[in-house]
Amino acid sequence: MNSAFKFLDTSIGRKVLMALTGLFLCTFLIVHVSGNMQLFKNDYGLAFNQYSVFMTTFTPIKVVSYLLYLTIILHAISGFRLTMQNRAARKIGYGAAKDPRSSSWASKNMGILGTIILLFLVTHMANFWFKYKFGDVPYVQYMLDVNSGEVLGAPVGLTDSGHMKPHELMASDANGQPVKLVIVRDLYNVVKMAFQETWLVVLYLLGMIALAYHLVHGFQSSFQSLGIRHPSYASLIQGIGVWVFGILIPLLFAAMPVYFYFMKS
Ligand code: HEM
Repeated sequence: MNSAFKFLDTSIGRKVLMALTGLFLCTFLIVHVSGNMQLFKNDYGLAFNQYSVFMTTFTPIKVVSYLLYLTIILHAISGFRLTMQNRAARKIGYGAAKDPRSSSWASKNMGILGTIILLFLVTHMANFWFKYKFGDVPYVQYMLDVNSGEVLGAPVGLTDSGHMKPHELMASDANGQPVKLVIVRDLYNVVKMAFQETWLVVLYLLGMIALAYHLVHGFQSSFQSLGIRHPSYASLIQGIGVWVFGILIPLLFAAMPVYFYFMKS
């Protein structure tokens, strides 16, 4: 155990830790962006609100969430120490300069890019995660067609939510027809309202530019740090790094604030 900690405190150990935590965070981003795509559904936010209930109440996902928080902290601390170490090495003229990966602009500025992403993340968590977990996000009630599951009009806000929990029940509409009622907290509306703010939309766009640069270098570099970047699939790793993590994922995330900012209702 002690030797494992000692290894993680060496230069190579820190790089391995950065690579493993970085790849875990990349996996999280795929899940997060896929789940958030529900924001684009034309259903008054029902699918997104139900997805949020699942993500915050299903025990295995809750456990993975705690692992995620720990990973973010480890990645940030280790990245900070690595940046300091590289800076000191550059001053005395060895180390970072010999690293073949240190050629691109992104590779030289991973520390700055990471800091911008961290600042973005603190604002992001305060706006959404903290509000959902500890804030007062009101409940809403959706009415659904029992057969098709289609949402029958805009949801109604529930004023006296008290100690309510998300739930579903059967009822009848004004014509006596059976309908399903879904009662959930309206995180969709929290997201929608947040992205009416110009400064927040701009911050998200800047955050996504930093994320794109950080991932273009970080994704492929992590395979190199782990020593598994074989020449026969190096171009595949490079391609995934650029097209999936450097372009597709940041673009999909960036589309979310832009969509709500320009949304009519
Ligand atoms: C730009 C579009 C994005 C939207 C609309 C969005 C939305 C949300 C919402 C509503 C939550 C709180 C719900 C929950 O805890 O499950 C959340 C949590 C979180 N988001 Fe985002 N997010 C976006 C981008 C990002 C990006 C780019 C990152 C990372 C760089 C990120 C990292 C996180 C983390 C770490 C959590 C906490 C997850 C957990 O508790 O398991 N998000 N996001």
